[in-house]
Amino acid sequence: MSELRLSSEKRLRVFSGRGYPELAEEVAADLGIAITPTSAYDFANGEIFIRFEESIRGCDAFVIQSHAAPVNKQIMEQLIMVDALKRASAKRITVVAPFYGYARQDKKHRGREPISARLMADLFKAAGADRLMVVDLHTSQIQGFFDGPVDHLFALPLLTNYVGSKVDRNNLTIVSPDSGRVRVAERWSELMGSCPIAFIHKTRDPHVPNEATVGRIVGDVKGRTAVIIDDMIDTAGTIVKAVDACLEAGASEVIVAATHAVLSGPAVERLKNSGLTEVVVTNTLPIPDDRKFDKLTVLSIAPLLARAIREVFEDGSVTSLFDGHS
Ligand code: R5P
Repeated sequence: MSELRLSSEKRLRVFSGRGYPELAEEVAADLGIAITPTSAYDFANGEIFIRFEESIRGCDAFVIQSHAAPVNKQIMEQLIMVDALKRASAKRITVVAPFYGYARQDKKHRGREPISARLMADLFKAAGADRLMVVDLHTSQIQGFFDGPVDHLFALPLLTNYVGSKVDRNNLTIVSPDSGRVRVAERWSELMGSCPIAFIHKTRDPHVPNEATVGRIVGDVKGRTAVIIDDMIDTAGTIVKAVDACLEAGASEVIVAATHAVLSGPAVERLKNSGLTEVVVTNTLPIPDDRKFDKLTVLSIAPLLARAIREVFEDGSVTSLFDGHS
C-alpha cells in the first residue's frame, strides 16, 4: 500500500441526559439524526452510571441536558456524560444547557456567599467541556465564567414573533419586572416597533429566597396591553406581583412572556389565579401535564437549538442567528 487514506470527515453526535429527553429528541429530529444510544442508571445510593453504546471516537459531541428539578442530579449526570465522552476520545464536547442551573447566584450579594454560577462553569471545564451552549442566561456576564467559547442563544425572536402576532403594537407597553431587565425590555421594544417601556421598582429581602417585594410602576400602562418580560418564572411571586401592579396602574390586559418555566411550588396556582390574560414560555424545561393550564402557551426552543448546533458543527456563525446581537 503506497498511500494511507485519512478520513477527516467530521461527525456530529447528539447525546441526551435523562433530565428532558423529549427536548433532545426534538432537536435531534430537526437535525435529522438519532440520539446516540446511552445506558444510564442510578445505583442504590443515588450515584449515577453512564455508558455510551457506540464508538464516539473523534466525534463532535453535543450533550443536551436541561437543569430541571432535581437540578443537582441533572447537572451531575451531565458532568459524568462529559467525563465519559472525554475518556472515549470525543474530538470536541459542547455542553448544551438550555436552562443553566445556578445562574441566579452570579455574584456575592453579601459576605461569605458562593458564586455558584462560576462554580458550575468551572465544573464543566474540569469535566472536559470545550464549549457551552445556553439559552437566556440570567445575566450575560456569566458567559465570561467559562474558559472557552459560549454560545448564548436568545428566545427573544421566538417570543416577540408570537406576542407580536397577538397584540395591537400601537397600544403596547413592555414591562420589566425589575430595573435589571430594562435592557432586555428595550430590545423587546425595538422588535415590537419602538413601543414604550416601563419597569417595576422591586426590592428584595436578601434573607428570604424567592420572595420579591414590588414597589411602584415607573412608566405608563394605563389603558394599554402590558407585556411583562422575564428570564424565568420560578415560584411566580415576582410575576404575579408585577401583574397586580400593572392592573392597579390601569393596564387593559397583561401578557407574561418568559423563557424558562421553572414553575416551582405554588407557581401554577398563583398564575391561574392572577388577572393575567396569557403566559407565554418556551420548553427549555419540561412542563409536566399536571403543571399545564389554559392560559399557558409553550413555544418550542428546539428549532433554535438545532440551528445553533448545526452552525457550530459547520463552523458557521451563531451570532448571525440574532442579527449581530450577542
Ligand atoms: C430574578 O431576578 C429573576 O429574573 C426572576 O424574576 C426570579 O428568579 C423569578 O422567581 P420567582 O418566580 O420565584 O419570583
